[in-house]
Amino acid sequence: MPRQSLVAANWKMNGDLAGIRELVGEISTGVEPDASTEVLICAPYVYLPEMQRLLVDTPIKWGAQNVSEFEKGAYTGEISVSMLKDFGCEFVIVGHSERRHVFGESDQQVAAKFNVVNKAGLTPILCLGELLEERQGGTTEEVISRQLNEALNCAGIESFENAVIAYEPVWAIGTGHTATPEQAEEVHAFIRLQLARHSDEIADRIKILYGGSVKADNAAELFSRADIDGGLIGGASLVASDFLTICQSTR
Ligand code: 13P
Repeated sequence: MPRQSLVAANWKMNGDLAGIRELVGEISTGVEPDASTEVLICAPYVYLPEMQRLLVDTPIKWGAQNVSEFEKGAYTGEISVSMLKDFGCEFVIVGHSERRHVFGESDQQVAAKFNVVNKAGLTPILCLGELLEERQGGTTEEVISRQLNEALNCAGIESFENAVIAYEPVWAIGTGHTATPEQAEEVHAFIRLQLARHSDEIADRIKILYGGSVKADNAAELFSRADIDGGLIGGASLVASDFLTICQSTR
């Protein structure tokens, strides 16, 4: 069976209440319900109640960009997975490169977050990706394996039954230097192969998204590759017409 595609917006720390209402209005009016493609918006925490209000009767899902690895307690400023559930989130991005490289999240911490989201019955979107110097140094596969194995060791292969992976080469994020479809496909196929060492079925079923300067004019070519099941979209998801074009590029 062909895998369903997923196009996910990662708004990062952008927007305000009025702007978000306008953007959601434009996106939800323009999205054509389509069983072959799921559409998701990952909004800043404080706007999640509003996302629930605006999207509850639409085919569009909403989710968070991060979560605490802890269940509850004295963790000032953190948000737990049960809080996200209260507002209808179904997806949570974990281990985005900005969390890893700007906020110093370790592979272990990301794996713990992956586990917490999974155990709560939400779908983690586990981000993996190498830095420019790692690609240039020929260690891309080593880095991807290390990041993936940490989650596998912590949560087990079964947890990938309800998970999404996003390959986001750090050098492609927000830079306009999109990975070529060949470069992306090569890493996606590698990730699927790593999972197949544990379970062919899970490797075959899991969605692997590409992220990093996906735009309206390059999405279709990326999404046409065998192992690329959609995208995690930053900048272009803040412009409704661009995001809608990207959503339609899965076909
Ligand atoms: P850009 O699409 O802005 O490069 O961001 C990609 C990203 O980080 C999505 O999570």
